[in-house]
Amino acid sequence: MHPMLNIAIRAARSAGSIIVRSLQHVEHLEVTTKGRNDFVTDVDRLAEQEIINAIKKAYPDHAILAEESGKQGDNEIMWVIDPLDGTTNYLHGFPHYCVSIAVMVRGKTEHAVIYDPLRDELFSASRGGGAKLNDRRLRVTKKKELAGTLIATGFPFKYPQHLTPYLATFNAVFLQVADVRRAGSAALDLAYVAAGRLDGYWEIGLEKWDLAAGILLVEEAGGVVTDFAGGDNYFNQGNLVVGNLAIQQQILDSITPHLTEELKK
Ligand code: IPD
Ligand code: CA
Ligand code: CA
Repeated sequence: MHPMLNIAIRAARSAGSIIVRSLQHVEHLEVTTKGRNDFVTDVDRLAEQEIINAIKKAYPDHAILAEESGKQGDNEIMWVIDPLDGTTNYLHGFPHYCVSIAVMVRGKTEHAVIYDPLRDELFSASRGGGAKLNDRRLRVTKKKELAGTLIATGFPFKYPQHLTPYLATFNAVFLQVADVRRAGSAALDLAYVAAGRLDGYWEIGLEKWDLAAGILLVEEAGGVVTDFAGGDNYFNQGNLVVGNLAIQQQILDSITPHLTEELKK
């Protein structure tokens, strides 16, 4: 295992312990609102600090981009951290959230860890080395058509201006598939596509820390990820369409007629 992946795994597990331990006091947590429907707690901050400390101990010169504390350092190697993906779920005691850590080298993700501390599920990948859930190798599903598929999505709860086009994409996909899930953690949605638990996924308005690790997991599990224009500008655009080659294309074809120009930029 690459030493950076090893550090990422250790950091994700320590952050996971903080998240689970703090569950006992979840009703008493102070919640700050960062933006519309965008919440942060001390647990997010503590978990993030734990991860940053572990990285800095091993790699003091590496750059870090973390959701709660922003960017620090300047280096061709950058660690991208979401200490708690699914904060709204966490605050409500809805048991579905994770820690997400990606290592990017010159803008490309090389290592990825997504850790679900409640189920003790560790999703990991290194570029060219495949994706794993704990010790098991992952593959995306082999479905060829949308009929019968289970697809995940995210609602644009922070971006009401995108609600109308989003709902049009929802209609277009929903009418063709078996069902759609909105589970509340983009990183776990991506990990679940990699694990073959979901056949595909699309969402509007994600940040780098929501998607960096999950994209590598999906690709290393044989899946395809594009932005809403069918390209790879997803880090800037923040919109994703994911699945195996056939399903990803069919979701993209289904939603494209309903997208505004802004969503394809
Ligand atoms: C959020 C979750 C959610 C997605 C949002 C993200 P957070 O991350 O991934 O599923 O719909 O866009 O911001 O705020 O819980 O880390
Ligand atoms: Ca997130
Ligand atoms: Ca978060």
